[in-house]
Amino acid sequence: MTDGPAVLVVDDEELIRWSLAEELRSEGYHPVEAGSLEEARTLAAKEHLELCIFDVRLPDGSGVDLLREFRERDADLPIVMITGHGNVALAVEVTRLGATEYIPKPFDLTEMMLAVERATKSSRRARELRALRARSARGYGSMIGESPAMMRVFDLLSRLEDADAPTVLILGESGTGKDLVARAIHARSKRRDEPFLEVDCTGLSDTLMNSELFGHERGSFTDAKTRKLGLFEVAGKGTIFLDEIGELSLQTQGRLLRALENRKFKRVGGTTDIEVKARVVAATNRDLAAEVEAGRFRQDLYYRLAVIPVEVPALRDRHGDAALLVQHFVRELSRDLGRPLTGIEPNALARLDGYDWPGNVRELRNVVERAVILSRGPTITVADLPPELSGGRTGGHSLSGGPFRLPDEGINLAEMEHDLVLQALERTDNNQSAAARLLGIGRYALRYRMEKLGLLKKGSATEEGALAEA
Ligand SMILES: Nc1ncnc2c1ncn2[C@@H]1O[C@H](COP(=O)(O)OP(=O)(O)O)[C@@H](O)[C@H]1O
Ligand SMILES: [Mg+2]
Repeated sequence: MTDGPAVLVVDDEELIRWSLAEELRSEGYHPVEAGSLEEARTLAAKEHLELCIFDVRLPDGSGVDLLREFRERDADLPIVMITGHGNVALAVEVTRLGATEYIPKPFDLTEMMLAVERATKSSRRARELRALRARSARGYGSMIGESPAMMRVFDLLSRLEDADAPTVLILGESGTGKDLVARAIHARSKRRDEPFLEVDCTGLSDTLMNSELFGHERGSFTDAKTRKLGLFEVAGKGTIFLDEIGELSLQTQGRLLRALENRKFKRVGGTTDIEVKARVVAATNRDLAAEVEAGRFRQDLYYRLAVIPVEVPALRDRHGDAALLVQHFVRELSRDLGRPLTGIEPNALARLDGYDWPGNVRELRNVVERAVILSRGPTITVADLPPELSGGRTGGHSLSGGPFRLPDEGINLAEMEHDLVLQALERTDNNQSAAARLLGIGRYALRYRMEKLGLLKKGSATEEGALAEA
């Protein structure tokens, strides 16, 4: 093996091979040589190739077959063909088969090296483009995000795709997107063509919840006029999404646990066992471990569910995602609401980016919706934001027309910056998001300044972690 990507030179004339290899080496490539189709295939299996140069006439077959074969396996690998002089039909043929270039024989080395350079350049560009496209796929399913915190969630979800774990628990504050996560888990599982059934565990009486989940026989309780199938039966091999599972009564928790453990249940008032084939995805915004401590949630059910916990981070912990989401919702909502908006002013976006979003993505979406409806111009401005975001101070986010006047003797800008940052932090009890808002900058801009001014506590793991992610 060579130490980098290799250039495979296939020609049965040793002298041509040798001089090409020498030239390639002097230009910084790693040539590997083959005198036949057979040798070429062996080398291709061993080496990571960045380019191929094939002669047509070879002792054990045609280089054209090699071209066809290699092209089928890798659409982007640059392949330069050496064709016989004046053989137009062959030139047409190799082009049709996807040769990157063809060089008529006899060729001179300069001409060949120019072709090599062109071919590697274009394939490197193709590779970079692909990497770029992969990176700008900012999300998973219908979820948007590219912050490290969300990338970790997406990574876990993609590992769940083939696993078909029987239960998954989604944890996160209200509005973080737990519903979307549950739907994405279903949509990307083998169960995607089976039903996805959602039930909100809040507010249903025990009896109703029971019959909702497991069904009932006719006459099993006062209101049971007919037989009813429960979600576990209707879902078949699909997914049951138990939203707000923290609200389930202890009694129903017990029934659910038994159904999950035994993989079977009976309808209320029924006698036959029905098999559980569905997968259960549960979500809660409660701290279930604390609920267990407090005796409000069964420990055994908690352990059963928490085999695979997916923790959806709060929006304030997804660095950079707020701006991404704002732009996404501006586009989506202005289209849906029929408003001719083209975007959002940078200072308005900065406000939204710096806010700490206690209501998470749901709150952000509502704020954008309001702004899209209220905005008068073609873009959303600070004035279109609700008071907690537009801020009542001096109308202002910029110094123009504000209370600041540059004194005749001048100022020390660095000192002033230091002072203002300190004041903002003091006034907000070190709440960085709030302090950033006071200064009219994003949280990142604030953290950058804090670091520059030596105001970030060193050695505090969370602070440094957050910075590393920034
Ligand atoms: N990552 C995301 N990308 C796009 N939209 C999101 C994202 N997370 C949440 N939303 C949207 O925010 C709102 C609240 O999400 P939801 O899943 O109902 O939150 P939860 O169930 O955690 O309370 C929904 O309108 C949802 O479509
Ligand atoms: Mg929800």
